[in-house]
Amino acid sequence: MNTRTTDQAAQGREDLLPSIASAIRDETDPRHAMERAVAMLKNSVPAYTWVGIYLLEGDELALGPFLGKPSPHTRIPLGSGICGAAATQRETFIVDDVNADSRYLACSIETRSEIVVPIMDSGRVLGEIDIDSDQPAAFGVADRKLLEGVAAALAPALSARTL
Ligand code: SME
Repeated sequence: MNTRTTDQAAQGREDLLPSIASAIRDETDPRHAMERAVAMLKNSVPAYTWVGIYLLEGDELALGPFLGKPSPHTRIPLGSGICGAAATQRETFIVDDVNADSRYLACSIETRSEIVVPIMDSGRVLGEIDIDSDQPAAFGVADRKLLEGVAAALAPALSARTL
């Protein structure tokens, strides 16, 4: 990808955050807020093949709203997968080549790269945004900024949610 294309892609990503954050704030039901965020991300970025949100329940991540092929991983222990690692270390993980990462739990044979962004409230992990792409190395700085912004917008809704 050349510099011009990279800049254009980054610009597109940054433009998405205000509308997604506003849609999240408009929803009073946390589940609807998550569904809106997942749908807007999936529909806006062609490289986002699978978009989902996992919610921390005890020491497991439970799959919430998602769009894409059904995943076999509906509950992920904190010690497993890239999802578990991101939640445990409380930081965004970008994996350019999932097949080269021994932690990777396969959801689809077509997936080539993945980003996992924790949703946190005052340092406490509430859940995470997980996105897979069929393209290798699909995620960069612009995706990280967009998705960390969406995670911050979702945090108040998830913090108020009752299980
Ligand atoms: N790939 C994730 C599991 C979730 S599926 O991608 C939906 C992982 O390694 O934790």
